[in-house]
Amino acid sequence: MKKPLNSSSQSSPKYKILHIGAEVTPFSNVGGLSSVIAYLSKSLLKKGHDVRIFMPRFSFIDEKQFPMEMVFEGLAVPTGYAEGDGKPTELICNIRKHVTEDGIIVYFLENMEYYEKRSNVYNYSDDHVRWALLSYGALQFISEKLDWKPDIIHSHDWHTALVPNIVATKYRTSPFFEDIATVLTIHNIHFQGKSVDPSSELNFDDGKSQIPKFFSGRLKTLNFLRRGIIYSDLVNTVSNGYARQILTREYGSGLDKLLTELRSKLFGVINGIDYEKFDPLTDPLLPANFDINSIDARSENKLSLQKEFGLKEKAEVPLIGYVGRLDQQKGVDLLLEVLEKFLKDFNAQFVLIGSGDNGYEKAAQRLAKKFPQIVGVHTFPNFTLPKLVFGGADMMVMPSRFEPCGIVQMEAMRYGAVPIVRATGGLDDTVTDFDPATLNGTGFKFKDFDGWSLYGQLVRATETYRNKETWRKIQENAIRQNFSWTEVASKYEDLYKTAIHYKQEGFFHGDLFEL
Ligand code: GLC
Repeated sequence: MKKPLNSSSQSSPKYKILHIGAEVTPFSNVGGLSSVIAYLSKSLLKKGHDVRIFMPRFSFIDEKQFPMEMVFEGLAVPTGYAEGDGKPTELICNIRKHVTEDGIIVYFLENMEYYEKRSNVYNYSDDHVRWALLSYGALQFISEKLDWKPDIIHSHDWHTALVPNIVATKYRTSPFFEDIATVLTIHNIHFQGKSVDPSSELNFDDGKSQIPKFFSGRLKTLNFLRRGIIYSDLVNTVSNGYARQILTREYGSGLDKLLTELRSKLFGVINGIDYEKFDPLTDPLLPANFDINSIDARSENKLSLQKEFGLKEKAEVPLIGYVGRLDQQKGVDLLLEVLEKFLKDFNAQFVLIGSGDNGYEKAAQRLAKKFPQIVGVHTFPNFTLPKLVFGGADMMVMPSRFEPCGIVQMEAMRYGAVPIVRATGGLDDTVTDFDPATLNGTGFKFKDFDGWSLYGQLVRATETYRNKETWRKIQENAIRQNFSWTEVASKYEDLYKTAIHYKQEGFFHGDLFEL
């Protein structure tokens, strides 16, 4: 992968950065991108940048917990229709703001119909309208109603990928946007705004036509992500490994050719984890706190984990954990199938926390029924239990089909749970395979997405576990890794510097994408 410009070599400039995203922790927590936006913002702020966030005001965001102040009432966002078309010519929104405990200003776009009336963040048939409104609303608000101008507008995933498109077209001649660089982070290339079917040429969006009106059927067929890639000044994804993978047909979900063409503006930056929120020494959710010098204390956590899940309370039985969405991407099908065999052959326990696909939830519950006191399953969202798993389980398994970054493996390592992962994307970048000869390595990896490969690593891990000294060494190696956001934020500083440079030089706009 290409290296961005190095901002730390000279006196590093301080930027004004606006993140626009569908969801942000702690206001909503569906996907990994919500924590990325929150923690990246926090670390950039600590480095002296002026960081603000723009997101929808969902009804489930509790105003008692997050007090909000009205900043603008009656923002009329044009929908593209004229009077007499029988469609609303504009959608009326309000903007509220909340300042986080770290001092980040978060703007909330308020609209009854599209955000407040919905109890979920995603998966409505008019999502394309909801995210188009967010993108247009954000740009209109900052350019017309706010006395603050960002140097960088940073969008995330397909939901806000229209932002660079709107900046480069609607606002093409606007002096306000003249020197603002746009950055797009791809957290998951599989979701593009329309259902991904690379084989279908029908309704193919080449990304260069005008953005359709809000309620036209064409908006639905738009490939938001493709447009974001085309029009942004710089694109990055959440690991180097995934940045390389999405250039291939196998992982590119139909965008590999475009990305290969534009690869000089494509970068990979691995995500981090928040070292204050994720610290086994101070975590109030752990019965026993510990650090690298007191790893033994984990056994108390393991016993309460076993108790919590109704497993046999035995410190010496290896306990494997899974925490995450239950979907195809994560390889849950492979995991459940292999565990059925593995748990018959080996003395081990398994706990799972996750929700998602109904079929996988049922399959996990079936496994728990089949292996009482050996398998424990929680198939509902839970924000506290995962910490007990990280701090008490011996291993965490992640057999993903693909994994742009993956956060759980980093959280697990920080808490001394040894990862067993498929060597793909960010999992491959963050976990090094244990080498018994040198005692180096932080976990166990397998390459091919098949049952025997996973089975093999489950056996390797649980057999190695029997050697206490060796196991302790792997845990120490894992805990010593540095995945803090502070490190990652400096890589984003370099990206921003590069994006501004590209924007100034006009590298990716102009004739090539002239409309
Ligand atoms: C998506 C990816 C995951 C990544 C996260 C945050 O959820 O699937 O791998 O860690 O985004 O970037």
